[in-house]
Amino acid sequence: MRSLRDMNLSKFVADDIPLFNALLADIFPKVTNVPKMTYKEVEQGVKTFIEKKNLQYEPAWVLKCIQLYETYNVRHGFMTVGHTGVGKSTIMKVLTETLSELLQPFKIVRLNPKGITAPQMYGVKSDISDDWTPGIFSTIWSKNNNRSNKFNVWITCDGPVDAIWIENLNTVLDDNKILTLANGERIPMTSNCKMVFEVETLDNASPATVSRCGIVYISPTDLGYIPVLKSWWIGRKLDFNRGEESDKLNTICTKWFVTHDIISTIRRSIKSAPFNISEIIQVTQFCNFMTGFLRPFVAANKSLTDQEYERLVIFSIVWSIGGILEVADRNIVHELLQQKGAPMPQKSKDVETIFDYYIDYRAVGVLEWKLVVPETWVPPENLQFSQVLIPTGDSFKASMIADMLLTQEKSNLCNKAVLLIGLSGTAKTSSVLMY
Ligand SMILES: Nc1ncnc2c1ncn2[C@@H]1O[C@H](COP(=O)(O)OP(=O)(O)OP(=O)(O)O)[C@@H](O)[C@H]1O
Ligand SMILES: [Mg+2]
Repeated sequence: MRSLRDMNLSKFVADDIPLFNALLADIFPKVTNVPKMTYKEVEQGVKTFIEKKNLQYEPAWVLKCIQLYETYNVRHGFMTVGHTGVGKSTIMKVLTETLSELLQPFKIVRLNPKGITAPQMYGVKSDISDDWTPGIFSTIWSKNNNRSNKFNVWITCDGPVDAIWIENLNTVLDDNKILTLANGERIPMTSNCKMVFEVETLDNASPATVSRCGIVYISPTDLGYIPVLKSWWIGRKLDFNRGEESDKLNTICTKWFVTHDIISTIRRSIKSAPFNISEIIQVTQFCNFMTGFLRPFVAANKSLTDQEYERLVIFSIVWSIGGILEVADRNIVHELLQQKGAPMPQKSKDVETIFDYYIDYRAVGVLEWKLVVPETWVPPENLQFSQVLIPTGDSFKASMIADMLLTQEKSNLCNKAVLLIGLSGTAKTSSVLMY
């Protein structure tokens, strides 16, 4: 029963786990409370690493680390599956770092197979000269599958599964463990190398591939977004020595994200979003906005009042969750925040919403709401009509948000990337040019 349970639980989505446990209880009515296998050293090592790296100890998520460890022990090819931001890469990192402490060093070599063509991945033989050009994957493979290496390697394909490249790996994933290349070379897999896939879905993988791999599925509920938020505000204490700020942010963020559960409330109330963004990504965006806002104050060693922090939090919530919404839904976000007693701007017109206001974080004074007013445009001396770009409210907002994100240092949370979306002809390119 333990084998049946422990070998299968890792593959299920969170909702199916109680169902599966109930089925097992029906099949084995006399066997109850079978304890899970424990791995004391690994579990302790994972806990220590999580604390060291300012991650949060979420039991369901840590269980995934242990399930990955169990899968690693019995398989030479395995997949971590789950939506973006559920912590797939972090789980792999936590486990490999822990095992590096306990055993030999572990390395993760990552590539995105979807970003290259099949010949670039596996190598190609020229029809004319018969010359062999090695591919990226085949080079990584031959370099790391070497018994004399003093380290273990997880060759990780991080990206969407596509039948074009994954089917070539079937001979690697089955018991032969051999990669066969187009030039006839056959490179066997050594025991210090594992083949890992980090994917969102397995829709395009054939049963032949899926059945050859161990699978660990990570549900969005295993981690949730609160730990990401928590690590962020605790990180401000550790990285920037902003203890008081961290405590204030803790109170305000708990109020808005836990008590008011603002993300779910907005999600339930809006009519339609152009595309679905996961909650963890929205929270990551929120943290990025806040980090951008607080940067000048860290540099000037200045702290803010509770009200100012709350205004910044509201502004960041508005743009991280509502930034992709249409006008009608933005009105709903405005009303919701008003109902919940958020510190709102004093509107000058009835048609305005909170999206028409910003907080000028560069002016070192009181952080107050200001109405977005595009810069006054002065015609240049040599005016070329086709190249005229006149700033508008929207271009102002786009530049302000881009500025806040792009001027930050690249970090674990911030990739310094801005995505402008909108129908064709809605001045996306012009906004970028004006920035
Ligand atoms: N236990 C944790 N506590 C706090 N933050 C965490 C934890 N695990 C992951 N995170 C944070 O969550 C974010 C997303 O994690 P990660 O990049 O591992 O997700 P992913 O599933 O690999 O995403 P993608 O599919 O985009 O590659 C990261 O910023 C990471 O620091
Ligand atoms: Mg990842």
